[in-house]
Amino acid sequence: MKIYDALKKDHLEVKALLSRLLTLSEDDSKSRNELVTEIRDALIPHSRAEEAVFYNALRSVNQEKKEVWHGYAEHAAAEGLLRTLQVTGKVGAGWKSTAESLKKALEHHIQEEETTLFAAARNVFSDDEAEQIGVAFEALKPKIKEESIIGTTFDMIQNLMPPRFSKNLSSLELRKSL
Ligand SMILES: [Fe+2]
Ligand SMILES: [Fe+2]
Repeated sequence: MKIYDALKKDHLEVKALLSRLLTLSEDDSKSRNELVTEIRDALIPHSRAEEAVFYNALRSVNQEKKEVWHGYAEHAAAEGLLRTLQVTGKVGAGWKSTAESLKKALEHHIQEEETTLFAAARNVFSDDEAEQIGVAFEALKPKIKEESIIGTTFDMIQNLMPPRFSKNLSSLELRKSL
């Protein structure tokens, strides 16, 4: 599967999960907490694998990296909202407006990704490369599970490094040096 289709599939899934969350009644705390966990388990591995495989491949061949940096910033912003959702979801107050903000932020991010970033990628990746990047993305995603917020942040820092250096930087090593 080409990377574009693999990413689109995940985007649809996370949007559907957020829509389901927004249909829940205020007193259904069990379903709410389960869905928030499902959203985290879909969003974090998607974002980290997307950065490691897709964004970094694009950064290594595309001189104009503005769109990619913008993508990283939006990942960080969405994850901030996800953290707020985890807390507000637990206490059962204010979670709906946080979920709405997260849905809006993700819809905007996904729309930009599927237009601007996909167009930039299609200019520089051949069909074969897009296929190989898709395979790498699907292989990496299940290996990424959130161990902690700090671990997730370190993984993002690693992905932010220039691609030719980041492979020498093990997030595990960074964590050990804490
Ligand atoms: Fe994405
Ligand atoms: Fe993204």
